[in-house]
Amino acid sequence: MKIAIINGPNLNLLGKREPGIYGDSPFDSYLADLKLKFPAMHLEYFQSNVEGEIINKLHETGFSYDGIVLNAGAYTHTSIAIGDAVAAISTPVIEVHISNVFAREDFRHVSYVAPKCKGSISGFGLNSYELAVKAIEIMNMGI
Ligand code: DQA
Repeated sequence: MKIAIINGPNLNLLGKREPGIYGDSPFDSYLADLKLKFPAMHLEYFQSNVEGEIINKLHETGFSYDGIVLNAGAYTHTSIAIGDAVAAISTPVIEVHISNVFAREDFRHVSYVAPKCKGSISGFGLNSYELAVKAIEIMNMGI
């Protein structure tokens, strides 16, 4: 099973960025642990601070992968183009947020991505990614 994990802007700074909100673990070390938990899965990781690069990655993976885990960062709340890209592809996308966006500022309550996604997971720290991978696994088992 092939899964793409796509992280958007500022998520390259995980571990250093506002640790009170996003935790103190860099994504690389979390990803290594995640891969160990899902040995049968090919987990490909991509991060970009550039909107168009995120869209290109969605196009590249969105017709052949079994699932996409997307944390579009702040583009979640602004990007019609990323929402359109999610709608354009056939691979199911799970929206993920580390923080509980609904417990934060009002502008974070809006997502242009969520309506086009299979579902959304928000507020479980980095474990949100594991829950999303698990959701894709369950979907693919037809449960
Ligand atoms: C985030 C939440 C967004 O509102 C914020 O802009 C981020 C990270 C999260 O994972 O909690 O960059 O997507």
